[in-house]
Amino acid sequence: MLQRFFLLALAFVFCCCPGVADVGDFTPCLEFFHSSWPPKGLAGTPICQRYNNRYQFATLYSRPRRSPWFSAYMYSAPTGKRPSSTWKFEPQLAHPEANGNMIPFPPGPLDQNVVESQAVNPDYINSSYTRGHLNPSLHHHTHEGRSSTFTLTNVVPQKSGSNRGPWEDLEQTVNQTLAAYCLGLAYVVTGVIPYRSDEHWLKNHRVAVPEYMWSAYCCPKYNTGLPDHLKTHFPTFAAVGRNDPNSTEEIVPINKTAKKQFRGYDVRAMPLETLEMYLKDRFNAVIQVFYEQCTTSD
Ligand SMILES: *[C@@H]1O[C@H](CO)[C@@H](O)[C@H](O)[C@H]1NC(C)=O
Ligand SMILES: *[C@@H]1O[C@H](CO)[C@@H](O)[C@H](O)[C@H]1NC(C)=O
Ligand SMILES: *[C@@H]1O[C@H](CO)[C@@H](O)[C@H](O)[C@H]1NC(C)=O
Ligand SMILES: *[C@@H]1O[C@H](CO)[C@@H](O)[C@H](O)[C@H]1NC(C)=O
Repeated sequence: MLQRFFLLALAFVFCCCPGVADVGDFTPCLEFFHSSWPPKGLAGTPICQRYNNRYQFATLYSRPRRSPWFSAYMYSAPTGKRPSSTWKFEPQLAHPEANGNMIPFPPGPLDQNVVESQAVNPDYINSSYTRGHLNPSLHHHTHEGRSSTFTLTNVVPQKSGSNRGPWEDLEQTVNQTLAAYCLGLAYVVTGVIPYRSDEHWLKNHRVAVPEYMWSAYCCPKYNTGLPDHLKTHFPTFAAVGRNDPNSTEEIVPINKTAKKQFRGYDVRAMPLETLEMYLKDRFNAVIQVFYEQCTTSD
């Protein structure tokens, strides 16, 4: 009897409200993870990023930092231009019963519950940081896929020297590499590394600034006729980028001859295991980005 009640209760939890649990659970959007396996070792609030009633990617959000730990998506070869950016927010972070689609910020004053629950445009305006995409619009084929990346739950405070410099170069290189040599699906996870101590914040102490950004991809099915310089870039590849020219050089060295506006914002390519070693060191936890290090296909 009790067991029956329990089953009924379970059925109620899973069936009563289709689509309502976009915040708090990755279950509706496991398709964006290799082998339906979200990265392990990081704690936060899962968001299934829904736009116009379609899931587009997944984000692990940190409420106290008002910025994401990572976004996970499937790469698709881009077409067309970067859309004009209408910045959006996630209503369910403020109101769990709200519709799960991201929506554009309305003109005029904002609901205080929204302001409390997440970053809003004024946090970034007049700060010395840009709105840096984790999941970039460049890596998406459809207009909706591209537009959906313009949501503040997918961005972190990023210095323009990184965003318009080496980090953008990385996004371009990944585009070219995957477009040319990945034969099946490519799963990408892009995240942040916080300062070890002495967190940095945007003005008002509302939004945390990352010290580094990282990115890794998993492409289990690839062209085996790889040129020599790409042989170590499959099935996985990872990179860490500086977001602060004052950081020490142990994770990413500085290229002293780089153009002045990009100096100190270098990106270092590395194997996935090396990235996971740095993540473990900084988060004091074992972090696994891909199921079985992307050694199996799904
Ligand atoms: C940004 O700075 C300009 C010029 O100082 C000011 O007019 C504007 O109100 C500021 N905007 C915000 C959102 O703080
Ligand atoms: C992405 O890579 C493809 C293949 O190299 C290239 O044709 C395309 O122009 C690239 N897209 C962008 C926006 O750079
Ligand atoms: C780097 O350090 C200098 C000197 O302490 C400081 O003025 C500058 O704002 C720092 N740069 C960043 C990006 O934090
Ligand atoms: C350093 O930057 C210069 C100028 O952009 C570039 O030519 C050189 O290849 C870079 N060196 C390394 C090791 O990345």
